[in-house]
Amino acid sequence: MCGIVGYVGSRSALDVVVEGLRRLEYRGYDSAGVAVISEDGTLQTAKKAGRIENLDRELAGVTITGQTGMGHTRWATHGAPNDRNAHPHTDSFGRIAVVHNGIIENYAELQSELEHRGVEFRSDTDSETVAHLVAAELAASGGVLADAVRAVCRRLQGAFTLVLLDRDHPESIVAARRSSPLVLGIGEGETFLGSDVAAFIEFTKNAVELGQDQVVEIRSDGYTLTDFYGAPAQGKHFTIDWDLQAAEKGGYDFFMLKETQEQPSAVADTLRSHFVNGQITLDEQRLDPGVLREVDKVFVVACGSAYHAGLIAKHAIEHWTRIPVEVEYASEFRYRDPVLDRQTLVVAISQSGETADTLEAVRHAKDQRATVLAICNTNGAQIPRESDAVLYTHAGPEIGVAATKTFTSQVAAVLIVGLALAQARGTKYGDEIRAEFANLQAMPAHIAKTLELADSVRTLAREIADSKAILFVGRHVGYPVALEGALKLKELAYMHAEAFAAGELKHGPIALIEQDLPVVVVMPSPVGRPVLHQKMLSNIAEISARGARTIVIATEGDELAAKYATNLIEVPAVPTLLSPLVTTIPLQVLAAEIAQARGFDIDKPRNLAKSVTVE
Ligand code: G6P
Repeated sequence: MCGIVGYVGSRSALDVVVEGLRRLEYRGYDSAGVAVISEDGTLQTAKKAGRIENLDRELAGVTITGQTGMGHTRWATHGAPNDRNAHPHTDSFGRIAVVHNGIIENYAELQSELEHRGVEFRSDTDSETVAHLVAAELAASGGVLADAVRAVCRRLQGAFTLVLLDRDHPESIVAARRSSPLVLGIGEGETFLGSDVAAFIEFTKNAVELGQDQVVEIRSDGYTLTDFYGAPAQGKHFTIDWDLQAAEKGGYDFFMLKETQEQPSAVADTLRSHFVNGQITLDEQRLDPGVLREVDKVFVVACGSAYHAGLIAKHAIEHWTRIPVEVEYASEFRYRDPVLDRQTLVVAISQSGETADTLEAVRHAKDQRATVLAICNTNGAQIPRESDAVLYTHAGPEIGVAATKTFTSQVAAVLIVGLALAQARGTKYGDEIRAEFANLQAMPAHIAKTLELADSVRTLAREIADSKAILFVGRHVGYPVALEGALKLKELAYMHAEAFAAGELKHGPIALIEQDLPVVVVMPSPVGRPVLHQKMLSNIAEISARGARTIVIATEGDELAAKYATNLIEVPAVPTLLSPLVTTIPLQVLAAEIAQARGFDIDKPRNLAKSVTVE
């Protein structure tokens, strides 16, 4: 949510910053802007509502030379997404420029204080307050930017990443963070700032994680890190293991299409190293097996697609371990009084590791002494840092806003957690665990086979692209898959899409069914759960009888399901608990294809951002 880039070095700051913004655009695309301290000692800014192409047009023919600069790509919170509210914001004298990610919760109070002092605001944002506060602090103290930023940060409430330039000091940039992301990139004679490493992956692989409530001053020859009171602090160095290629489209029109195709390797990489000498190992996890043995309740907290992975986890963990599992939206869990104690394991699932709702849920759980295990795709992000343990998915960077390979990797990861709990608690014999893990290891090949269906799904997508709505139904683990299919369609195609537990249809939603309405049915396998299969057949029959167009995702050779299908999509036969890893694939393809048929940008759906760092 909002992408931030900063640069000090010997290259053209404008070029580095605009390129970095392009790579971070998935974090928000309501507007984009840059500020550079130009060689003539002035602070040059340019900003424009809309995508980066609009900023490119604004910059065409303009010469901005300078080696210190920053940029911002916005997902609007306070103030409409127009030119006036685009970042950077400057103080009244054009000395200080600021870009901000997050929400300053006490901004109204700070703004009225500044207005009483005669400051005139030129935007409707909470962020502009910071430029004026820092300018006032500098004027009053006569000190340096880093001191002024520390003093202002101590007054701010909420979550923020701030990056500031001082026109009079082109040799450095100052940045601060609280509960919002910011990493440093360390090059040879140049230093970078970014909301994530994608901002500077082209230039350096050496990065530094910043902690909570820290202020950093970067120069071309290094950086100085302190807390908000000026006490020296240590960052955590790490080497970026994603390469530039992973963050590029590689011949595909959209990142999402590339990422959908990468699912076999994303799942295989996530499984790798978790089965050693006949044992499930959570090697990146710092949890004592004794802690796992004592767990008597599991809570899964997550948002969006990650929440759907959590719903799948419930089926697997309860079945394999007999431990009760609750799954809750992080934003709901956070403001409730859930029943937790030291024996509760809270599994926080987050691709980005920075989703504000999930982060707050983690803190809420820790306050009540629960043990928190994060499942995350981003090394060193805030959620794994604040958790007791972490299991990383190894899906690589996901740039398309809609989750695809990270979702299937999360499903693989929660299944590993389920098996690890079963092993620790002895609810499954070693050979049963080995057999389940072998089934999991076969999944990348099944996913690859399912991806071969893309062409037939494409044809179908074109036929139903003009439908008013599409319904999705499923049972058991098919229900979260239906929810995920509907979410993908809403996000990408802006279509009315609803998912229902198939058994619930008759209790109301069946009234929605009319002639030719597409209804996607996620069928369970006839072998794994014959009773479920039978019940689903009755449900499809009811849907068909009312004239709907049934699009049935069924196991290869399921002739009974085929009978009721207007369109049949056959997926490989796999064990029921693992089936979401294949049944989700056609739904991802369907949503992407419908969205493209309707002419939408599937990487940057309207109103969305990939990581949501505000509540
Ligand atoms: C946003 C994204 C969703 C994602 C959700 C949770 O809303 O648009 O695709 O599932 O955040 O993100 P996380 O990074 O916590 O998995």
